[in-house]
Amino acid sequence: MDCLKQIQATVLAIIILGTGASAIQLANANVIEERQAKMKMVAKANKALKKASKASDMVALKKQGAIIVSSANKLAEMFPKGSGYDTLGKKVTHSKPEIWMDWNTFLKKLEAMKNVAEKVANGDLTAAQSMGKTCGSCHRLFRSK
Ligand code: HEC
Repeated sequence: MDCLKQIQATVLAIIILGTGASAIQLANANVIEERQAKMKMVAKANKALKKASKASDMVALKKQGAIIVSSANKLAEMFPKGSGYDTLGKKVTHSKPEIWMDWNTFLKKLEAMKNVAEKVANGDLTAAQSMGKTCGSCHRLFRSK
């Protein structure tokens, strides 16, 4: 390749990469807001669940458990590659790049939350007490401050 062609190819590659990256950022902006809203919903359900568990309010307990189960199902699809703070910055997301380096562990943590939530949705009071641990065990590895 002569020198001029090489420069042209490089410029073209930069343009393609550049537009590619901003398209990814745009597509991710929505999903990040959605997953953060979903996490907030999980947090709200977790609080209500604790209250219900103290009061032995089985109807409320089951309902909150079910909310966390359905949230867990949706959350798995809300972490597309390239949507961590390493790409988008900590002002946008607290998701660590480790999520995609160790996707299987991330899914396992999500699954662990879902399993406990399923028990809670079936009225298991003991499971309700270990709900909070499933949050921390994922946040410790995959969420930055
Ligand atoms: C499989 C991993 C995982 C599990 C399990 C998990 N979280 Fe999270 N959570 C995250 C990650 C990653 C973020 C950062 C999301 C972002 O900013 O992109 C987060 C963010 C949050 C936030 C902040 C949302 C915001 O407004 O930005 C709250 C609140 C939260 N989680 C609560 C909980 C609670 C409560 C539980 C347990 C019932 C839980 N999470 C379980 C991974 C997890």
